[in-house]
Amino acid sequence: MTRRSALINVMARAAERTGRALIRDFGEVEQLQVSRKGPADFVSAADIKAERMVRQELQRARPEYSFLLEEGGRIDGADKQHVWIVDPLDGTTNFLHGLPHFCISIGLARDDEVIAGVIYDPLKDELFWAEKNAGAYLNDRRLRVSARKQLDDALLATGIPFRLHEGKPVKEKFIDQLQSVMGRLAGVRRFGSAALDLAYVAAGRYDGYWENGLHPWDVAAGILIVREAGGFVTEIGGRRYELGSPDILATNDGLHEPLLRLFAGKPQTGRLAD
Ligand code: IPD
Repeated sequence: MTRRSALINVMARAAERTGRALIRDFGEVEQLQVSRKGPADFVSAADIKAERMVRQELQRARPEYSFLLEEGGRIDGADKQHVWIVDPLDGTTNFLHGLPHFCISIGLARDDEVIAGVIYDPLKDELFWAEKNAGAYLNDRRLRVSARKQLDDALLATGIPFRLHEGKPVKEKFIDQLQSVMGRLAGVRRFGSAALDLAYVAAGRYDGYWENGLHPWDVAAGILIVREAGGFVTEIGGRRYELGSPDILATNDGLHEPLLRLFAGKPQTGRLAD
């Protein structure tokens, strides 16, 4: 049995309690789908309520720490060195449409470096978590990225730009990226939750994941979980990924280099060129 630290227990409790509330609200959304008014207002209220719950739980345990919240923005506490980075409902569009794929993501950064993360999928009761230098886990099971080394076998996840303000350059950038990998891989998926995409790379379900223009709350927990599971997280150009980087590429260890080359439009080397 894996022993979780006090810190991870605090984060897990906040995510699991909020998850139970989200499951109740998700049931309501399924009813509202068919009503004339639709579920949009209800979902934004559920999102705000979930954020308040996570915040209260975390604040009770560590009253001094600061917050960076998807809805509430930056809230400084007495301790500005430690910052909880929270997405209370990642996969909001799925939730809104009654699609059962969403999660709560909580990262803790110390001096801008993520040192602990949890991602909780309440419908599957899957808790992905990691602490710096202590490995990554799914519930009680140690996580390891996949061992695939061949691009032809690789299943990648991505996110498709959708916000109006993302504008033409982001759309074109994404289409170029898709064109670089299309036809070279086993497949590309778009499931609609960046945090779960990262968690699934850590769990070896996906071999890699890329996206543009994410926010720190989408990725804070996930980047640590992937790295602690033995994966790589960089920008698509190869630089180390930092919170606020313009794009992200998270992969297992064997495919990182081949994928960087593929995105850069460079020919593959060795067996990969076959
Ligand atoms: C979104 C999801 C989605 C990703 C978007 C994110 P939200 O987060 O993670 O998969 O493509 O870029 O904004 O809005 O559901 O918290």
